[in-house]
Amino acid sequence: MTTVQPRGPLHISPSILSADFVRLADQIRLLEEGGADFLHVDVMDGHFVPNITIGPPVVEAIRKVTDLPLDCHLMIADPDRYLEDFAHAGATYITVHVEAAVHLHRTVQQIRKLGCRAGVTLNPATSLSAIEEILPDVDMVLLMSVEPGFGGQSFIPSLYRRARQVRKMLEACGSTGCLIEADGGIKLENIREVYDAGVDVVVSGSGVFGTPDPVATLRAMRERCAA
Ligand code: DX5
Ligand code: ZN
Repeated sequence: MTTVQPRGPLHISPSILSADFVRLADQIRLLEEGGADFLHVDVMDGHFVPNITIGPPVVEAIRKVTDLPLDCHLMIADPDRYLEDFAHAGATYITVHVEAAVHLHRTVQQIRKLGCRAGVTLNPATSLSAIEEILPDVDMVLLMSVEPGFGGQSFIPSLYRRARQVRKMLEACGSTGCLIEADGGIKLENIREVYDAGVDVVVSGSGVFGTPDPVATLRAMRERCAA
């Protein structure tokens, strides 16, 4: 008989990538007002991904204006070089791409040693077998539902199957505290399906900031996933 695991609470992690950077503190206040659980910070280096975004000084500045956990998604080559900088800047979660981390076990240990929670993430075409061995040691698995690099892309539906598969893998290794996060192309229209696939943490950038009233959108997202 299959045991059905109780579903955990929905965590919404709005991505500030689509925020107005000139008014970042105000934008973060809106997210807090809307009931955001985490703040998703997209770090891009122009090398692992074509785009360049923000670095540790901005994370440090954000840390000063909010108590929300900072969910730092490093889309950078050789992430080991910057773990300490992001930890000192105030990151709560540091998530690295399995495609970029050559010695993943060491990287994950280092993130935890720095006092942060460790996440691993995979591009949509990367086999889930890439995280099988590291699963018992991580706090979050981030599944990309777009190719990393830009906000505002279309959702890739293989996310549903992949999230269900990761849930099974976590149950198989007894790692119940590890969160599953999904990132890319998630909006009010598809958030419920994503949540129903077993995703604990939903990232949304343009799906929040691209709407006329981000506070109302965040509340509607939570409402959509209730009961
Ligand atoms: C893509 C980033 C995402 C992005 C999501 O590389 O990792 O976090 O900000 O943006 P939307 O929700 O607009 O797809
Ligand atoms: Zn992201």
